[in-house]
Amino acid sequence: MKFFIDTAKVEDIKKANDMGVICGVTTNPSLIAKEGRVFEEVIAEITSIVDGPISGEVKATTTDAEGMIAEGREIAKIHPNMVVKIPMTVEGLKACKVLSSEGIKTNVTLIFSANQALLAARAGATYVSPFLGRLDDISVRGTDLIAEIAQIFEVAGIETEIIAASVRNPIHVTDCALAGADIATVPYNVIEQMTHHPLTDAGIEKFQADYKAVFGE
Ligand code: E4P
Repeated sequence: MKFFIDTAKVEDIKKANDMGVICGVTTNPSLIAKEGRVFEEVIAEITSIVDGPISGEVKATTTDAEGMIAEGREIAKIHPNMVVKIPMTVEGLKACKVLSSEGIKTNVTLIFSANQALLAARAGATYVSPFLGRLDDISVRGTDLIAEIAQIFEVAGIETEIIAASVRNPIHVTDCALAGADIATVPYNVIEQMTHHPLTDAGIEKFQADYKAVFGE
């Protein structure tokens, strides 16, 4: 399983990129709004940091296929690595079909069922984004959905990649890797949490203490 970072915060993207662990970025309208910056400006800056797929979502106020197609074409023009993120609706599927047929990469988002993922794949989506954490929030096991989609895609020979989204903690990461996600898009704080283990910290302290006891500082 590969990692994308799920944020529009440039400092966090730089930190994760410097660690060498991410190969793409996902954003959404809430994450862009949180930064309070112009969409095109922040996205262009992100493309200059990470050399991999960068998902930029159509505006939350654009709900018809024609509008999403027009916006998607503009997003695709920002950089060759751009992926147009489209919500899972009938209009979104129509937009996905047209943009995909033009060779524009798409990420169908807000996936909460295996059937939605299957429809998005058949509409030509490059990626589908099932939202793990938001399902867990309503007492539905999000990782079960990832496993179902992975199994269906495997059986049907579908090449659409599964991005496990709405990842909230390190256990989610392990679980979606085991469930067969191709990618997990993870906020920076979770990447940071994943680096830690108390035995690693204790081991470093012991190595330092043993070395210093014999050789000094
Ligand atoms: C991913 O594509 C989504 O933007 C994101 O993972 C949503 O996460 P949240 O449910 O924590 O807002």
